[in-house]
Amino acid sequence: MSSVDIPREQWATRFGFIFAAVGSAVGLGNIWRFPFQVGQGGGAAFLLIYLLFVAFVGFPAILVEFVVGRYTERNPVGALREIGSGLWQYLGWIFIVTTFVILSYYSVVAGWTIRYTILGLQNGYLADAAEAEGQFVTLATGLEAIAFHALFMASVVVIVAYGIQRGIELAVKVLVPLIVVITVGMAVYASTLEGASEAYAYYLSPEWGTIAAEWTSILPAAAGQAFFTLSLGMGIMITYASYLGEDRNLAEDGAIIIGFDTAIAFITGLIVFPILFTAGVDPGAPGAGAIFVSLAAAFGDLTLGWLMGAVFFGTVAIAALSSAISLMEVVIAYLIDERDIDRTRATLGVGVVLFLLGIPSASDLVLLDLFDLFADQILLVLGGLLLMILVGWSLANLAVDELELGIGDLGSLGAAWIWAVRVPVVVVLFVALALGVIQY
Ligand code: PFF
Ligand code: NA
Repeated sequence: MSSVDIPREQWATRFGFIFAAVGSAVGLGNIWRFPFQVGQGGGAAFLLIYLLFVAFVGFPAILVEFVVGRYTERNPVGALREIGSGLWQYLGWIFIVTTFVILSYYSVVAGWTIRYTILGLQNGYLADAAEAEGQFVTLATGLEAIAFHALFMASVVVIVAYGIQRGIELAVKVLVPLIVVITVGMAVYASTLEGASEAYAYYLSPEWGTIAAEWTSILPAAAGQAFFTLSLGMGIMITYASYLGEDRNLAEDGAIIIGFDTAIAFITGLIVFPILFTAGVDPGAPGAGAIFVSLAAAFGDLTLGWLMGAVFFGTVAIAALSSAISLMEVVIAYLIDERDIDRTRATLGVGVVLFLLGIPSASDLVLLDLFDLFADQILLVLGGLLLMILVGWSLANLAVDELELGIGDLGSLGAAWIWAVRVPVVVVLFVALALGVIQY
């Protein structure tokens, strides 16, 4: 039987969609990128700017992806072919390319988090920073890294192969509550550490001077982070909203999803900094080293650090899993909708291709960084920017009508949303893209 005869899948419950979208949003972006950006960007002053971007860029943009998905009930390629004309028809392909690039190396990093979970349980962590760094370099590339990348990719394939209700929805209903409970628990544990109050001061005191001196790099960083953390510009929210059957209040769902993502990011800072300060580890180290070197070394220094570290890295692995399945689903939805390929075969095939594409990243950290930069700072922002221009400037009526389903007459709020998309969102993304290209 071809998939044309089978009705398109839908979420089973009201919370299925919200859980899945929260699971997608909460990922590595919240756990290693966010706290360190806050720390380096002037503490609470950065936090405030970031919150403004989330509210005035992230929120309008997530609603755009939702209405496109729910209106077309299609994967990003099919959705854009339906609503776009001329060259706009092909915009969906950018999302597919972005998905392949991001998922190939994200799975490698996720593999490291599994390796570091096991490391804590088996041997504990190395307290000496130089030794911890050496260990990371050994574990991050080579056969072992490839093996854990394969293990992670296989888990993604198994979940996605079971489909929307029995695969993704079931998985996120277990994984997301786990992430929330463990994160809050770890923050409580961290508050008992002796370095906690010094850490809170570092994390939460606003340094307006830093913002004033470095705003040219802080503003695009905050804008890019707001987009990445909400899983925007990858076609994920289009795809997930395409499985919504009923006309739900998308503004309310968007606010809930953003609230959770922001809360988890914020709470992670309350975990990471007390641990670093208590162990006397420099909180300034950015990038991959931040959690796999500095934080791992801090766990090596603490009583019961092996256990706390294993719980921490295990949670990061879970968060990465619930994000990766959303990215995989973008491609699978395309193959099912447009190519009529059966879900199981599509998932296996894409899994194998992504495994192969990830091998260069699992062999050379420089390549991994290059893919990361290219995807985050260029592809993601480019796809998002073009979608916002298309919907904001030429499909405004359609978009407002779709948003009003499940909410009722929006009145001038509908116009306010469209104008937010047309000007501030487009300008912010354009500037972020220009700076990304220059940096690349
Ligand atoms: N919102 C995710 C995060 O903050 O980590 C971004 C993401 C990355 C989603 C990779 C999915 C993914 F596979
Ligand atoms: Na996130």
